[in-house]
Amino acid sequence: MTESSSTVLVTGGAGFIGSHVCQAYRDAGWHVIALDNLSSGTKENVPDGVELIEMDIRSEALPEFAKECRPALVNHHAAQIDVRLSVADPRLDASINLDGWLNVLESARAAGAERVVYVSSGGVVYGEPDQLPTAETAPKAPISPYGVSKLAGEHYQFCFRKVHGLEGVALRYSNVYGPRQDPHGEAGVIALFSRRLLDGRPLRIFGNGEQTRDYVYVGDVAAANLAVSALSLPDPESIDDVAFNVATGVEVSVRELAATLLDVSGRAAEIEFVPARPGELLRSALDTARLRAAGWRPEVELAEGLRRTYEYIAEHSQGNSG
Ligand SMILES: NC(=O)c1ccc[n+]([C@@H]2O[C@H](COP(=O)([O-])OP(=O)(O)OC[C@H]3O[C@@H](n4cnc5c(N)ncnc54)[C@H](O)[C@@H]3O)[C@@H](O)[C@H]2O)c1
Repeated sequence: MTESSSTVLVTGGAGFIGSHVCQAYRDAGWHVIALDNLSSGTKENVPDGVELIEMDIRSEALPEFAKECRPALVNHHAAQIDVRLSVADPRLDASINLDGWLNVLESARAAGAERVVYVSSGGVVYGEPDQLPTAETAPKAPISPYGVSKLAGEHYQFCFRKVHGLEGVALRYSNVYGPRQDPHGEAGVIALFSRRLLDGRPLRIFGNGEQTRDYVYVGDVAAANLAVSALSLPDPESIDDVAFNVATGVEVSVRELAATLLDVSGRAAEIEFVPARPGELLRSALDTARLRAAGWRPEVELAEGLRRTYEYIAEHSQGNSG
């Protein structure tokens, strides 16, 4: 793909991860358009030099808009991301994560885009995995409507490749953290802990704190988006052939996470243990050999990433949360 002065349309580009992805494309010389309905994203997140279009991905106006801006690449970050909300309202989840995604796929096709990058989730599509770190080819067993919609999105992408020849690549993120993260839900545990530290409140840990996650810094995730945007892709025989885990491969327990954050922040806080949340995964770490073979590797160590996130939240802190 030609990168210089080509247009990339980034859905969800005003959100936490999408805004960093916009920045990375811009810095690599792309003309970047962020498309977002600002339901959780903000105008302030959108980097300088990136055009923001306020639109819902389910809008009937999307195909026409895509034809006008003729993106070479469509990068899809817009989503309903709340696992618990997906359980409470699975139809809302499907409306955004499936119907919305189909509208984006149809629009990419109508606009003659060369490729789509779809964001999936390595934290949910594998369910409770038998093997750690978990490779792309591991069985898929999502246990939430959000996990089902994310996985189904990969199947739709595969189908568009087979039926319409639209190239697609899927990124399965682990737990992404960094500046601009909204401190809500499990994905936001680092942002949430940081806010609590700043507010002088105890850090709340669900269960015994031995549950593990694979935390990857958002700048490294943005670099992974760039890496797969120009990568030569096979004619896939399954969704896994064009899927890449984006992670560090390292398991970190919530206790370790809290201890490292206390260390880098130089603050003290009590740790409060509360009952485990039902259905929460016990362990999670993703195998990144495939993306490493494509030349990518995570550059930001956990302590350094935590320091950057904590400092960002300290600068932008406005009262209590969680
Ligand atoms: N944060 C993580 O750890 C993580 C892990 C795995 C996958 N993901 C995926 O990464 C992507 C970005 O997540 P994030 O953490 O940056 O969340 P986020 O909420 O900050 O970003 C989502 C963006 O999409 C926008 N959006 C939501 N519904 C929309 C709609 N109907 N039309 C247009 N825009 C809409 C929101 O306003 C927001 O800007 C999502 O697809 C999410 O599923 C995130």
